[in-house]
Amino acid sequence: MPAVSQSARHALAATPEFGRDLLTCLSEQPHTIAPKYFYDATGSRLFDRICGLPEYYPTRTELSIFRQHLEHMAALIGPRAEVIEFGAGSLLKARLLLDALEAPFGFVAIDISGEHLTAACSALRRDYPALEIEAVVADFTHPEQLPLRRSSRSRRVGFFPGSTIGNFSPHQACRFLCAAARLLKGGGLLIGVDLVKDPALLHAAYNDTAGVTAAFNRNLLLRANRELGCDFRTEDFQHYAFYHPLRQRIEMHLVSATTQEISLGGRCFRFAPGESIHTEDSYKYTVDGFHTLATACGFRPIATWCDADNLFSIHWLESTCPQE
Ligand code: AVJ
Repeated sequence: MPAVSQSARHALAATPEFGRDLLTCLSEQPHTIAPKYFYDATGSRLFDRICGLPEYYPTRTELSIFRQHLEHMAALIGPRAEVIEFGAGSLLKARLLLDALEAPFGFVAIDISGEHLTAACSALRRDYPALEIEAVVADFTHPEQLPLRRSSRSRRVGFFPGSTIGNFSPHQACRFLCAAARLLKGGGLLIGVDLVKDPALLHAAYNDTAGVTAAFNRNLLLRANRELGCDFRTEDFQHYAFYHPLRQRIEMHLVSATTQEISLGGRCFRFAPGESIHTEDSYKYTVDGFHTLATACGFRPIATWCDADNLFSIHWLESTCPQE
């Protein structure tokens, strides 16, 4: 048996979900894979670099909205909040929020990227010794399955910054919000949502001149090579990202530049020139559109904050799920 397929079988067992989903992706047309697989340790680092790019306006814009309106946000959230962050990342925004809140009860960070999360939480523990901090390595796209304990002395407050909700299709976003509304009953959700805008600005944000977004996109293939024993020649896949105005989303693809064959788990997949792997959608909303979605999914919009150029929005939503 060739060495490659042996290591592939071994690796498939080690990362069963990624291997299974990539196999489905390569087997089916069109080829699509969930963007959560971007975030191994390398991918998380590349994403942090994206956040600092001049073209990538969301991170700095959201931060400036936070800094400007934190007191109002904290007043609406109220005391003794148990903050649950979905997709925790570097925890910079969580720190701002925790600093502004009155007597926060605890902080639960949920992220798929275990290494990254553990490091960020250790640093947080050092700086907030009095706060109860919990790191949960999990896929937050299914909030109903999260292993969370409910305390009767706190009010749960979901924290979902960064417009990560943009990765969900409208249907997935609705399922996520419905489950979050049940999880957060008696409390609410503070969520960052990127806005519909000039397509040229959107295009630039996902096609930076330094090529970091392209590297982030291609890292998915490098990860497959590392973890699953694949043999993607990543330079033969072009980073292709564009804005689709009717669907109100950025689509990210990896487009094969050549005829090439990729092996996974002992099987071989042929790519023709121009054949694409659809790696990410990033949906953009209008404020009204997002309010309509949230209202249909068990939340009441209480307040919305935007920057002066209406690039980005942050919403405080109260769960309308009845408490038993
Ligand atoms: C983490 C989903 C909010 O869609 O802007 C950034 C990911 N992809 N550049 C986004 C991303 C390419 C990001 N989200």
